[in-house]
Amino acid sequence: MINSYQKIAIVGTGNVAWHLAPALEAAGYSVVQIYGRQPEKARALANQLKQGRIKTDLDFTNSSARLFILAVSDDAIKEVARQIRLPKESAVVHTSGGQPMDTLTDVPTQQIGVFYPLQTFSKQRAISFENIPICLEASNKEMLDELTKLAEKISNHVQIIDSQQRAVLHVAAVFANNFTNHLLRMSEQLLHDRQLNTTLLHPLVHETVTKALEISPAQSQTGPARRNDQKTIDHHIDYLKAYDPAYAKVYQTLTEHIQSISQE
Ligand SMILES: NC(=O)c1ccc[n+]([C@@H]2O[C@H](COP(=O)([O-])OP(=O)(O)OC[C@H]3O[C@@H](n4cnc5c(N)ncnc54)[C@H](OP(=O)(O)O)[C@@H]3O)[C@@H](O)[C@H]2O)c1
Repeated sequence: MINSYQKIAIVGTGNVAWHLAPALEAAGYSVVQIYGRQPEKARALANQLKQGRIKTDLDFTNSSARLFILAVSDDAIKEVARQIRLPKESAVVHTSGGQPMDTLTDVPTQQIGVFYPLQTFSKQRAISFENIPICLEASNKEMLDELTKLAEKISNHVQIIDSQQRAVLHVAAVFANNFTNHLLRMSEQLLHDRQLNTTLLHPLVHETVTKALEISPAQSQTGPARRNDQKTIDHHIDYLKAYDPAYAKVYQTLTEHIQSISQE
């Protein structure tokens, strides 16, 4: 039988832990312990909480927590799962979009799951959980019900998503967020290197995202690739080859893909 998840321990002190721990506390849960392999980082997070204590080893045998949230780097989940020691009748989740639930099979409990907040988190940026989709998975229905109760206390968008679906969601999220952000960075660099003010692009960036969300990305596409304007495309590629061949390669790949899709 699963106890209520009223008391929670968080393993990890990175971007997700930094936002999730206070959000859980604000929703009425007790974050009783924060594990960090660097005590000063655990202390910084615990200082944000009413009662969180820091922990620098993974032996939680005597912990009062019943839910353990592993908010550690993807490639550390398995290692932490192997090392962690838990009290009886406890449950463990990880917060990764890219890792399947069975990454946790080595934890010393049958109660495993995933609590994936589908958003980009950085410590330096405040964010409200209310509108963040939380994608849940659990090894059994009882645990899923408990996780759902908890997730619904902090978010209005809770969804049950299995490991295979989450893998697809994660790829899509990489395109939507990580690649978009990288392209923004590249475009800023182009302006910056010619002493142009990067804020010139801000209205365009806002309208791009707003329009894509309102009328769909397929209907929103404009530009030389969409128009098959080969003269302009060649001109851009010549400029970029001289600027940085890696930029030219990215431009060419995206252009060819837009052209192939536009012709369908
Ligand atoms: N950031 C996002 O936007 C986001 C969004 C949704 C889900 N996620 C997922 O949430 C999880 C955490 O992401 P994050 O962005 O919070 O990562 P992060 O900021 O890079 O923090 C990673 C945390 O894991 C700890 N860690 C790394 N290797 C460890 C090990 N071998 N043993 C113990 N602790 C270890 C780090 O400790 P040190 O500080 O000592 O290195 C740090 O506390 C990941 O699974 C990620 O995929 C992230």
